[in-house]
Amino acid sequence: MSNSLNLKQAKNLNIAFTKIFLSYSIALVILCLSPANGQLSSTFYDKTCPKAMSTIKAAVKQAVAMEKRMGASLLRLHFHDCFVNGCDGSILLDDTPNFTGEKTAVPNNNSVRGFDAVDTIKSQVEAACTGIVSCADILAIAARDSVVELGGPTWTVQLGRRDSRTASRSAANRNIPPPTSSLAALISSYGNQGLSTKDMIALSGAHTIGQARCTNFRAHIYNETNINSAFATSLKANCPSTGGDNNLSPLDVQSATVFDNQYYINLKSQKGLLHSDQQLFNGGSADSQVTTFSTNQNAFFGDFTAAMVKMGSIKPLTGSKGEVRKNCRKPN
Ligand code: HEM
Ligand SMILES: *[C@@H]1O[C@H](CO)[C@@H](O)[C@H](O)[C@H]1NC(C)=O
Ligand SMILES: *[C@@H]1O[C@H](CO)[C@@H](O)[C@H](O)[C@H]1NC(C)=O
Ligand SMILES: *[C@@H]1O[C@H](CO)[C@@H](O)[C@H](O)[C@H]1NC(C)=O
Repeated sequence: MSNSLNLKQAKNLNIAFTKIFLSYSIALVILCLSPANGQLSSTFYDKTCPKAMSTIKAAVKQAVAMEKRMGASLLRLHFHDCFVNGCDGSILLDDTPNFTGEKTAVPNNNSVRGFDAVDTIKSQVEAACTGIVSCADILAIAARDSVVELGGPTWTVQLGRRDSRTASRSAANRNIPPPTSSLAALISSYGNQGLSTKDMIALSGAHTIGQARCTNFRAHIYNETNINSAFATSLKANCPSTGGDNNLSPLDVQSATVFDNQYYINLKSQKGLLHSDQQLFNGGSADSQVTTFSTNQNAFFGDFTAAMVKMGSIKPLTGSKGEVRKNCRKPN
């Protein structure tokens, strides 16, 4: 009698525990499925601005059709936004007599571009739905659409970032890695943003498109030995040892307007344009990953898109933080 009672009690207890366990598990699953990283979500504008995505895609398509390099410039803007106190549109704020922004920071001054294209995109989005879509989200979507437009992979962009009311030139100078960086410095810079070495190597593949100024690769082509000598010689014509600082050369000498894995193939034959590029294949710990990406474009595309989502979720302003700027160049 007492034995069977105990058995029954034990059974009930077991059921009770199972119920508790199940409800906790369900809560945990819900918690894990709910948008992480400050509540970004891919459906953020589905109800409030259903035309946002198609409007931005069409505007990027038009901008890239006018100038292919614009796809590279828009991709870079998102990177330089995210690495400075998170993806908050801070890079888009203009300097004024009483406001110092990020546009004139060393890595950006006379270098980042695409601000007019962003203005055009923003005004078309505002015409579709006023005051809803942030400039920070426009940069994230335009980066994706640019990569796709130049033949690269697509991915689902997480949304819901809000725009900062401030910017920091000093943080831009500190946090955006310079082209003189060593491999160790690159790993550390990305680590500070919560990005892995693999993320760093994959994101660097963005240099499969776009241009760099002579001032940023002069020392590499004149003074370094880990460069293909014919490649170095060919670059010197347009990048003299003094002068011509702003003369441009493609970051990917083979296919500057196609988003492919050619960047890694170039590194393997010592045809990286920047000192920092060639650091990824220089007998160090990044070599094997570069080799993988050079022979497997799908592996590169998979790791690049995953890393773009990670980079895009660096410290977003969400909820009631920040604002949705009316004009990307100035706080409301
Ligand atoms: C790994 C560290 C990186 C360094 C040191 C670096 C450095 C540079 C430099 C020096 C330039 C040329 C700028 C000029 O000469 O005016 C450049 C261009 C560019 N960078 Fe990076 N970059 C890095 C990572 C990235 C990442 C993560 C992305 C995007 C995901 C990116 C996208 C681009 C693009 C697309 C261009 C060409 C822009 C244009 O043609 O307008 N870079 N980068
Ligand atoms: C800059 O300062 C002037 C006067 O000191 C003020 O009138 C103006 O509104 C300020 N501009 C901004 C953008 O804060
Ligand atoms: C940015 O570049 C312009 C034009 O070359 C120059 O006059 C200005 O001093 C630079 N700004 C900073 C903060 O370095
Ligand atoms: C190359 O290195 C020498 C010696 O360190 C230096 O004087 C020169 O300015 C460097 N040239 C370039 C283009 O960086």
